[in-house]
Parts: sequence; C-alpha cells; structure tokens
Amino acid sequence: MEILRTVNDVREYVSGRRQQGASVGLVPTMGALHAGHLSLVERAVKENDVTVVSVFVNPTQFNNPADLASYPRKEEDDFKMLASAGASAVFAPTVEEIYPGGIENQPHHEFDLGSAAQVMEGKFRPGHFQGVAQIVSLLFRIVNPTRAYFGEKDFQQIAVIRNMIKSEGINVEIVACPIKRADDGLALSSRNALLTPEQRKIAPEIHAALKYSVDYSRDHSVRATHDTVVERLNAVPELEVEYFEIVDARTLLPVDEWEESPWIVGCITVYCGKVRLIDNIAYRLPNE
Ligand code: PAF
Repeated sequence: MEILRTVNDVREYVSGRRQQGASVGLVPTMGALHAGHLSLVERAVKENDVTVVSVFVNPTQFNNPADLASYPRKEEDDFKMLASAGASAVFAPTVEEIYPGGIENQPHHEFDLGSAAQVMEGKFRPGHFQGVAQIVSLLFRIVNPTRAYFGEKDFQQIAVIRNMIKSEGINVEIVACPIKRADDGLALSSRNALLTPEQRKIAPEIHAALKYSVDYSRDHSVRATHDTVVERLNAVPELEVEYFEIVDARTLLPVDEWEESPWIVGCITVYCGKVRLIDNIAYRLPNE
C-alpha cells in the first residue's frame, strides 16, 4: 500500500492508473478507523481496480474547537488496518497541504447544498456541511474517483454530498453502505473510543430505543413514536437527546403522517456524557 502525503503525489498516482483504464474507488475518512470504515474499503476494493482511502481530520467541518481537539487520531494503526483490508493507497495530507496559506485564506465559496443541509446536523452544527462539502469536493477534484463510498450512519451527510456533486457538476457515483454495529447494537463510530467503560455500556440503548420504536410505529402516530424514543433515552442517566427527527429519506424534511412518504427514517443525535453520537433507523422502506 502506497502512503501518499501530497496532492501532487496522489494526482500522479491516480492519473497513471486511470490512463491504464483502471476504475478508482475513494473512501474519504477522518481516520481512527473501525470495522465500519473497513467495510467501505472492502466494498471499494471489490468494485474498483484501485482503492484510495483518505485520512484527514478536516478542521473546517468542526464548529466546536474542543470537538476538533479531542477527535481521536491513530495514524499508525489506521495504515496497518488499511493495508490488510487491501487498500491500494492512503492519502494522508497535512492541514497545510490541503489548505495552503491557512484555512482563513482559502477563496470563499458557498456550496449550494439544498434544504437537506438546513435541518438536523445543519441546524445544530452551523457551517458543518459547508466544511464537509469543501473537503469532499476537494478530494473528488484531487482523486477524480469513479466511485466514492460513505457510511449510512451519516445519513444526512450522504444526501448533502449528493446535492453538492449535482450543484458543482462533479461526476462520481456515490455508494451508500449500511451501518456497521457492535454486537450490542451500538453503531460503530470513531467517537466511541471517547466513551468511558460505563458510558460504553449505556450507549447501545440508543439503537435499542430506535429498534423498539419501529415496532411501536406500526400502531402509533409519528408524534407518539418520536416521543417514546426521546422519553426513553432522556430517562437514562448520561444520555441526552439533542434532536430526533422522523423525516422523508429523500428530502430529510419532517413527516407528520406515516402515509406521507414510502421511505421514512428517524435520525438521532444523543450526547452520552460529552460524546456526541449519531444513529438512524428506517421506519418505512420503498417496496416494503
Ligand atoms: O464522514 C466523515 O468521516 C467526514 O465527514 C468525511 C466525509 C471524511 C469528510 O471529512
């Protein structure tokens, strides 16, 4: 596996292979890799001739400096895991390499991300999706992938990235991959490493409440389903729901009735102590 640190090196690496007719899969990550990331890498390896994984903690998508400072970083372990998962190359640049001259001195560009970026994460993390769009569009322009792989844990992020490539005219296939969970149901996340052992025992309650609420939703209203999840989770010491929205999976706008859309998901963010965890679950699926 090649370890590439500069934009020029990764451009050269990919364009050489592209000229030979190779398809290129890109898996953008912020490192601190876990089995969820590896499932994206394994899928990319299966579906492409070349798989590039980026490892870059992007400062412009953090609206909270403490969150950025505490974000786990484990480069050496990440590289080992990527090599065993069959990645062809890892692109692990410095902040200066990506934002030469400093973040404040980048040309200002407001991405058109549509209404999907205004709700939920967009509301609670102002500027977050502009930062995600900034780095993901840069990576797409540098790597020029055939396909890019994202995990459905960040359900809203995928919708926003789809809007971004449309408005920026970037030609890449976005591949959405299912959430990977620990045996106790907790969605795998780099942030899980920040949980204390006690919090780690409590955190699976998030998925348990969501799962229970899918059955509950069969004979209860959207409002009652919403409330049962929020009340159950807020009753657990250490857990505090930041938001829980039951939305149309395509627009990400809230629904009032189950009949409003064939595809409905519940998206949640919960603080477990100081650790911000996100998850989601489908209530209704097309062709169900
Ligand atoms: O999902 C993530 O880890 C990040 O938001 C991404 C897509 C790698 C951009 O920094």
